Amino acid sequence: MSPRIGLAGGNPQNKNVLAGGNPQNISLYVHWPYCTRICPYCDFNVYKNKGDNQAALVAAILDDMRYGRDKYGPRRLAGLHFGGGTPSLLTAKNLGLIIDLAVKLWSTAQDIEIGLEANPNDITEAVLRGWCQAGIERVSIGVQSFDTDALLFLGRDHDAQQAQIALKQAVDIIPRVSADLIYGRIGQSARDWARDLRTAIDTGVGHISAYQLTIEKSTAFGRAELRGNLKAVDDDQSADLYETGIEILSSAGFNGYEVSNFAKTKGQRSRHNLAYWTGADYLGLGPGAHGRMTYNGERTATICALKPQDYIDHIQKFGHGVAKQEILNGQSWGQEYLLMGLRISAGISLSKFEDITGRPLNPDTIELYVKAKLLKHKNDRLAATPKGRLVLDRLSHELLLG
Ligand SMILES: C[S@@+](CC[C@H](N)C(=O)[O-])C[C@H]1O[C@@H](n2cnc3c(N)ncnc32)[C@H](O)[C@@H]1O
Ligand code: SF4
Repeated sequence: MSPRIGLAGGNPQNKNVLAGGNPQNISLYVHWPYCTRICPYCDFNVYKNKGDNQAALVAAILDDMRYGRDKYGPRRLAGLHFGGGTPSLLTAKNLGLIIDLAVKLWSTAQDIEIGLEANPNDITEAVLRGWCQAGIERVSIGVQSFDTDALLFLGRDHDAQQAQIALKQAVDIIPRVSADLIYGRIGQSARDWARDLRTAIDTGVGHISAYQLTIEKSTAFGRAELRGNLKAVDDDQSADLYETGIEILSSAGFNGYEVSNFAKTKGQRSRHNLAYWTGADYLGLGPGAHGRMTYNGERTATICALKPQDYIDHIQKFGHGVAKQEILNGQSWGQEYLLMGLRISAGISLSKFEDITGRPLNPDTIELYVKAKLLKHKNDRLAATPKGRLVLDRLSHELLLG
């Protein structure tokens, strides 16, 4: 999944500031926009279609990738992530074409992550073996819940048993497997949520993403909410469910290295998502894909043309798929760095924030929230505590205000 961050405007200020982590690293995000059906809560750039005729879009993605390699020069390929939409609809042959070109164009990191988001009903043993052969080493499976009513409510086209089988088969075949779960449906009790989590844990997955249901205006759920037919859970319920999640997951040995992400070992963490959260460079390929690239000392935010045919046409006309791009000024870049960085347990580097924005965070504000046990401050690092994660939006806002 592409991060939900918009473009921000402004002029370049910090030409000499390096991107997060190693500036030579690059990750690729490939957005496959097709889904067999559209879930009522989903506001990603998706189109209802099995995407049977994959050749034209795959060829466009390959051309866009070549363009990116020419534009940004040699880098070290740290990751390649297929998100969506439903990239598990891509044939193994097409996945292989994209992976093969990427590893041909860039030198690869030893611990390169090649991951795919998958829907349970696309998974069979043969499909998993095909993905493995194509080079996929991490799969995140969109289970959402093991409760039949919940799956119906969420408009999913798999059942609980299918999800369990898919996870177990994946654990046997793919080195790293994650389950995506959604919590925070109205009427969901802590016991329901604990049951979902325990079922996922029992399949043997090494990673769990636990997302709180967000109701976005542009979705069927958003429209139902507007008509008064659907309500989101309130803050107290949401905090209770979040705390239940932490309790169950940590007692099963899962570490919450990010607000919604839990891994059994460091090796099971999503290195691709860590690239987003740490402010590293990633090239967005495919319809509607977002990218963040540091180039000539400037940080550029990009968005590819949204509709698949527009994306293909854009590449034919201009050689690349980027329809919007903006150079982030220091303030926007710093804001993004802080908002993303406080989500992870490692937090942010205070000196890096200052390098990016040209100003330090206010030490009095930091001290205030450290005393309130919402922030942890050690040497150059500033991170949110578990209590701080519950009020992260507010906390980040206050820090940015100064
Ligand atoms: C965008 S989907 C793409 C992968 C795949 N098509 C699927 O449905 O699992 C990735 C994950 O985002 C999460 N997600 C999408 N929309 C969400 C929402 N409104 N609230 C919470 N989680 C959401 C789901 O857990 C989903 O598995
Ligand atoms: S949640 Fe997944 S399957 Fe459902 S519409 Fe969104 S991307 Fe497609």
